[in-house]
Amino acid sequence: MRIAVFGLGYVGAVTAACLADAGHSVIGVDVDAYKVSCINEGRSPIVERDLEDYIRRARAGGRLIATSNAEEAVSQSDLALVCVGTPSRRNGSLNLEFVERVCHQIGTALASCEAAYTVVIRSTVLPGTCEELVIPVLESASGKRHGEGFFVCMNPEFLREGSAIHDFHHPPLTIIGAQHDEAANQVAELYAHLPAECVKTDLRTAETVKYANNAFHALKITFANEIGAWCKQEGVDSHLVMRLLTMDTKLNISPAYLTPGFAFGGSCLPKDLRALVYRAHQHDLNLPLLESILVSNRLQIERTAELIVQLGKKHVGVVGLAFKAGTDDLRESPVVTLCEYLIGKGFALRIYDPNVSLSAIYGSNKAYIEREIPHIHALMCDSLPQLIEHSEVVVLANRDDRVTQHSHLFRDDQTVIDLARSISAKTIRGRYIGLYW
Ligand SMILES: NC(=O)c1ccc[n+]([C@@H]2O[C@H](COP(=O)([O-])OP(=O)(O)OC[C@H]3O[C@@H](n4cnc5c(N)ncnc54)[C@H](O)[C@@H]3O)[C@@H](O)[C@H]2O)c1
Repeated sequence: MRIAVFGLGYVGAVTAACLADAGHSVIGVDVDAYKVSCINEGRSPIVERDLEDYIRRARAGGRLIATSNAEEAVSQSDLALVCVGTPSRRNGSLNLEFVERVCHQIGTALASCEAAYTVVIRSTVLPGTCEELVIPVLESASGKRHGEGFFVCMNPEFLREGSAIHDFHHPPLTIIGAQHDEAANQVAELYAHLPAECVKTDLRTAETVKYANNAFHALKITFANEIGAWCKQEGVDSHLVMRLLTMDTKLNISPAYLTPGFAFGGSCLPKDLRALVYRAHQHDLNLPLLESILVSNRLQIERTAELIVQLGKKHVGVVGLAFKAGTDDLRESPVVTLCEYLIGKGFALRIYDPNVSLSAIYGSNKAYIEREIPHIHALMCDSLPQLIEHSEVVVLANRDDRVTQHSHLFRDDQTVIDLARSISAKTIRGRYIGLYW
């Protein structure tokens, strides 16, 4: 393929060299004359292991050149990879001026091109940037329409500086966001030789996943560091603790606990977090990340309560009261907190949770229910149809297959708020609101 790479910094130089090494014909573009001359002289514009060898080899094979002329690069390529910087402004917002300028340059060059062209954004950009900035700028500069004269794809970059060449050849995943399959397939071809799954999705998801990734990486490092700081105070080897933690690939290094939904609760997580943080304070140790978890968890409950309040309906039914499905354990259940909030606001509340109802008669939780939450127990319904009948708003707090079995009972005038992605919007009449989807 004939490829133009815009921006010859850490991402662009590696991408250009590796694609040229894979046999493509690559033309690099940068406004920085030093980087252009580096490439043309077979030198690396950045410090990165093995990169200079790749550039030298690609130059010798006649598969890599660099220029500062965007028009020339577009006219000699079928596809452009945009790898320009997207730095922070002083206030933390994202500076897109380089992306905008490159799109303007590419669009201007496209005005005089016959063949369709694909513009691939590899720079990290916030959700909506392709649709709200990249496509409009390309359309206005080229006078062509997206999907006819040119295509836009979002292909986030996952390489790490220091091991960038290795990472290019061993990506965890290739993600291609696009509105048009033919363009996504063209980009996928670039990486067909790499041992990674290629996932095609929409533009916004591809933009968003890069931010979720980087936030997660930062979170992991800070989590490990806070656990490390605490371990040191306890005289425990933090590396051993974290090694043991990562050996659990069922609950720790796994998709477990990584599905957006309602707040956590139960008899362990809140209690143990509080104990850890209290103990750290006894060592005069602040652990802002770990301390913020319970604060964030409470906000999840408040946000959900606010969502219900804003609907302005009085009769609310809640399905699931225990802290998670399949248990009758009510200790620190966030649903109990939510119900107490709604009772306090004067809602006519009904609750359905057969596990809890049973446990109130026979189970070990009987004393807890009678002592701690008699006001909530009094609101429990024996049957799901009864609860649906009562409610203007049904809150699905825990997954319960019985909801799907009774989906025909939902009415047009009802709103369902799903906190656990229990059902699909299509299975019920009325309005469906997913908590975070
Ligand atoms: N550095 C990383 O490890 C990494 C990893 C993944 C994603 N990213 C993202 O990739 C993007 C690029 O990062 P980087 O570290 O390579 O940036 P960089 O600052 O090293 O390189 C950007 C290059 O773009 C050039 N440029 C600016 N305007 C241009 C124009 N109009 N035409 C041609 N070139 C132009 C600059 O001169 C510079 O050489 C950013 O959005 C970054 O967030 C970076």
